[in-house]
Formats: sequence, structure tokens, C-alpha cells
Amino acid sequence: MTFDPRDSRGDRDILSLLDRRRIPKHVGCVMDGNGRWAQKRGLPRTDGHAAGEEALMDTIYGALDCGVEWLTVYAFSTENWRRPADEVRFLMNFNRMLLERRSDELNEKGVRIIFAGRRDWRVPRSVLKRIELTEAKTAHNRRLTLTIAFNYGGRAEIVDAVKALIASGAKASDVSEKAIAKYLYINDAPDPDLVIRTSGEYRISNFLLWEIAYSELVFTDVLWPDFRREDLFKAIYEYQGRNRRYGKVGDSN
Ligand code: IPE
Ligand code: IPE
Ligand code: MG
Repeated sequence: MTFDPRDSRGDRDILSLLDRRRIPKHVGCVMDGNGRWAQKRGLPRTDGHAAGEEALMDTIYGALDCGVEWLTVYAFSTENWRRPADEVRFLMNFNRMLLERRSDELNEKGVRIIFAGRRDWRVPRSVLKRIELTEAKTAHNRRLTLTIAFNYGGRAEIVDAVKALIASGAKASDVSEKAIAKYLYINDAPDPDLVIRTSGEYRISNFLLWEIAYSELVFTDVLWPDFRREDLFKAIYEYQGRNRRYGKVGDSN
């Protein structure tokens, strides 16, 4: 059930097409295509990242509108350190400033902001500090949890979880899926129901490897800076047409 763009209803009405009893609790988002968005306009890649701020804010408001309780966005991967130093520096400062600019507004809307990723020496101290302040300021909120995957890698998360489990004194016989899940960066979230990737790339790029075992995946050609809440609603519409079987025989069989 892909959204039919010929549908005469305006984009804003997509929300009214959604089954409000089957809104995904947790949506993940690989925010990709900033560089290409900028290149198409003859702008430096970093302008594409800057333009992604509006896309992120609109998506968060869309999540609030339709009742998504967990939104996890991929902002910087453990592999993104391989980019040119200037771009990496821009992304570090940009993410810090985005929090400085937006966290009061999000706090007022009842958004809890948390970070998932390695808080290691590569992340500038000023960024780590802003992360901690933002988490503390918004910790009491429950309407929506926005998790920012930053210096995040799915494999690194599993490695870190296993290390922490061993450090806790676990024996081989104590290792189980539940025990590993307890030590993931974020361990109180339900697994994502839906993961969206923008920019026409059909891959996961090390995002939430453990957690997406049974997530529905939706890919869109929209470049991240052009993504708006209507695109989130379209992805949820597509999700609602899927038959989640979890290895069992489907409902229609
Ligand atoms: C996604 O956009 C943002 C980050 C990875 C930080 P890109 O910068 O990957 O944009 P493209 O894929 O090169 O167009
Ligand atoms: C994934 O996008 C990481 C983020 C969106 C932060 P990339 O642009 O880094 O992924 P690849 O390199 O195309 O796989
Ligand atoms: Mg990319």
C-alpha cells in the first residue's frame, strides 16, 4: 500500500488516512542525502546539513502530531569520521548548535532527548557537554523520546554491550538476547516498528543492527533536507499496509 501521489487529497490530509490505532510506537530514520541536495544547487555539502535542521524539526512535529512515542534519528555514524576534516568539524558544531537553538522549544513540547553512541575522545568536549545538559534538561519528558544516534554504529553498540555484560561478571551461560539487550545504549525503548531511509539508498549503513531484526523498512527518494511531516505520514501509511509476520504464518493465510 504505497501512497498514491495521484490521490487528489492534499498532503496534509494524509494524516487523516492513517489508522490511529496502528501508529508505530518507534520510528527510526536514516537522514541521508544532504550532500546531494546541496550539490544539486551548486552549494557546499555543509549547506545541505544545515538545511536538514528544518526537515528534522518538521519530522519531530509530525511524530508529535500522529502519536509516535519514540523517534530515533541517525545523525553521525562511526564511519562518518572518514569524511574530510572540515565536514566532520562542521557536523560536530552543527549538532551542538542545533541543541542550543532547539532544546527549549522541544522541552516545552514534552520531548525527551537522549543520545545513543560512543562518547569517546573523538567527540569534542563542548559537544559532549551540550549532550549531557540537554539530556538532563529534558529527562522528565515522556510525550516523545527523540534519540539522536551520534558517533553511533550498530556493531559498536553490540560490542560495547557484550563488553559491559562481561564486565558485570556474566558467565558464558548468562549470555542471552535479553542480557545483551539490557546493555545496549538505549535499553528502555521498544524495537523500531518502522525504519525510513531517505535519498534512494537501499541499505542500513550500520544503523540499529540489533534492534531492527523485525522492523519494517521504507525507502524514499526524497533527499533529507526536503523531508517533511507528510513524508513521515506517507511512510506510516505504507507501514500500515504491511503484514508483520515475525516468522509465523500470516493473517491472510
Ligand atoms: C547525511 O547526508 C548526513 C550525514 C551522513 C551526516 P550525506 O552527507 O550522507 O549526504 P549524501 O549521501 O552525500 O548526499
Ligand atoms: C548514514 O549515511 C549515516 C547517517 C545518515 C548519519 P551515510 O551517507 O554515511 O551512509 P553511506 O556511506 O551512504 O552508506
Ligand atoms: Mg549519505
